[in-house]
This record gives sequence, structure tokens and C-alpha cells, in this order.
Amino acid sequence: MIRVVANAALDQSDVLKFWFGESDEPTPAVIRDAASASLAAGETFYSHNLGLATLREALADYCSALHGQAIGPERMALTAGGVNGLMLTAQALLDPGDSVVVVTPVWPNLVAQPRVMGAHVRTLSLRPHQGRWSLDMDELLAALGPQTRALVLNSPNNPTGWTLSRGEQAQILAHCRRHGIWIVADEVYERLYFAGAPGECAPSFLDLAAPDDRLVVVNSFSKSFLMTGWRLGWLTVPPAMTPALAKLIEFNTSCLPVFVQRAGLAALAHAEQITPAVVDHLRLCRDTLLPLLQALPGVQVAPAPGAMYAFLCMPQYPDSLGLAQRLVREAGLGLAPGHAFHDSSQDEMQGWLRWCFASADLQRLRQGADRLAGWIGL
Ligand SMILES: Cc1ncc(COP(=O)(O)O)c(C=O)c1O
Repeated sequence: MIRVVANAALDQSDVLKFWFGESDEPTPAVIRDAASASLAAGETFYSHNLGLATLREALADYCSALHGQAIGPERMALTAGGVNGLMLTAQALLDPGDSVVVVTPVWPNLVAQPRVMGAHVRTLSLRPHQGRWSLDMDELLAALGPQTRALVLNSPNNPTGWTLSRGEQAQILAHCRRHGIWIVADEVYERLYFAGAPGECAPSFLDLAAPDDRLVVVNSFSKSFLMTGWRLGWLTVPPAMTPALAKLIEFNTSCLPVFVQRAGLAALAHAEQITPAVVDHLRLCRDTLLPLLQALPGVQVAPAPGAMYAFLCMPQYPDSLGLAQRLVREAGLGLAPGHAFHDSSQDEMQGWLRWCFASADLQRLRQGADRLAGWIGL
């Protein structure tokens, strides 16, 4: 549905485009330079299925430091972005007919990928209240029993910014341990978190879990290092799962380009210069846009604790796809329809729109809010 809205106006330079989930800032030069140096040195050959050993070691150190746990390189697998990590996870864990619970609204791939594997997906919805979102823990735990193969969660969440608390994670982990349920935690926005102390990342299942827990954490260089186009991500898995993953990677992509992995190494080496600056800028974007939207009559939106989206509701326009299309045509404003983030059989997301506020230029955000105000009739 995002593509239905965007493809119709991709070439129109007069449309302000906030529909896709990426920053409009290029990858930092230190990362690009590492890739160029690798190519110049002729690193153009196949590499290890799981990724360069040096990169797996660097990732293990990075994750151990972030989560206060010893997370070893034997738990790491490099993937072609978070999306490939999610698909590999579905391939590794799911058989046709398996029962999977996915918490929504969520980026549509998390619902579609288990379905591609023939799994039966049940979605469970977060609850909105004046633009803020929460999870009904009793409802979630009641939906998870011995028949459930996997629970898929994305926190901080695309599109709502909703973020699981550590207490909720502990309850979910204990319940899933009891029933032998796999937790698939999509934590690609873990560092884009505004609610903690400066530099603090969002609560992660890796803070709590033991190495052998049935837990797969999906992560990516895309968002924290402005590297969406590089297709570089990673999985943190129980050590016993790594050999099977290596085989699945062989059959999917075989390995990642070495120059992309060198770029990943440079990103990790400079992580504490790059990512805090990305987060500070995103906070500024959020704090620029939100008050402008909150001032508009008929618009409900709350500041998100994480990720990079304003998820707003205009209840007087129940058809979110139609609303997004009208805003492109009539206001030159490109937003994603909220309905794209929900199970298609449900209509709870009508009236909602997602606005990606990751914009290098704050003035673009102000202009966008002006266009929305003008369209509403102010
Ligand atoms: C929740 C979520 N997970 C995973 C991804 C995948 O990102 P990538 O494949 O670029 O790492 C995205 C991208 O927008 C996302 O929003």
C-alpha cells in the first residue's frame, strides 16, 4: 500500500516525500571510504557464509557492550539487511501450518514472511489511546500456548514508536520459556530511542536472555548508521542454531560482498561518533514536527519513544489509503497509509498515516506540516 501511494508520484519533485522509512542523509564518509578502499584493494571474492570473522568478532564486542552481557561471535550471522535476517529466521524456524503470533501494527514484512513459509499467522493489536500505544499483556500471554511456534515482536516499533518495557520483556521471556516458544525480536531501531539517558538504547531481549534461550534478535546497520542501501544486517542466535543458519545463507545469498562488510567494520569502529549524532538529529526532527502536528485540529499524535516516525490519526478520514492518495494529489505531501501496517483482514488502522521524520533539513518538515495545515483548511 505504501508503494501504491508512492509509485504514482515518485518522479514528482514538487511532492514532499516522507513515505519511506529512511533518512535522506547519505552514509558517513568514513564508512564509504572503507568500502572504496576494499574495492581498490581487489577484495572482490566470495567470503564466509556467516560473514568475515573480524566482523562477527566486532559485532560480538559491540553487542556485549550495549547489552551488558557476554555475547560471543559464535552467536553472530551477518545477513543482507534486517529483511534477509527475518526471512532466514522464518526459514530456519517455521514449517507449513506452524502457529505464529505477530504484534501489530507493524512493518508489513513481519506478517508476510512467516506466511511465505506456510505458517498460520495470528495478529494481535497494540491499543491506541490519544495517539499513544500499549500492549495488553494478558491478551498477549493468553494468545501464546504450547501450540505456538513463534512470537514476532518489533520494538521500538515501526510505525508507532511503541517500545517494550524491560518488565514486559521479562514476562514474555518467562512465558515463552515455559511453553518452548521462539521469540523473534526485531530490534533494528534499538538505538533510535529517545526515552532513556543520552546514548542509552531501548530495552532489548539480549539484556535478559541466556545464550541458549529460544531467541533470535534481528538487527541492521540500516538505521543506526544511515546504511539502508548497503543491505547489511545481523542475527544474534543461540550457538546451536549457527551451523543451520550458515547452510541457509549458502542457499540464499551464499555470503555478503566483502566491501560491504569492510564498511560495516568501519561503522562499528566509529559507532559512538556516528550513532549518537544520528539519534540527536532524529530527536530534533521529532521535536520540530510533533508540536506542529499536535496543533492541527482533527489530528491526534503523540511523541514516539523510539524509531523515526510520527504515526498520526485523522479520524474524520476513515480510508487511510484514500487519504494518503489525496494528500499527494491535493497537498503535495507524501505519507504512508496506516492501513499498510495492519493485517489486511482488519480495518483498525483506518484514518492513520505514517510520517518518517528522518530529514536532514528541518525546513522540509515545517513545510510538510504547513501543507497539511493548508489542506485541512487552516
Ligand atoms: C521494523 C523493521 N525491521 C526490519 C527492517 C529492515 O531493514 P533493512 O533490511 O534495511 O535492514 C525495517 C526497515 O524499514 C523495519 O522497519
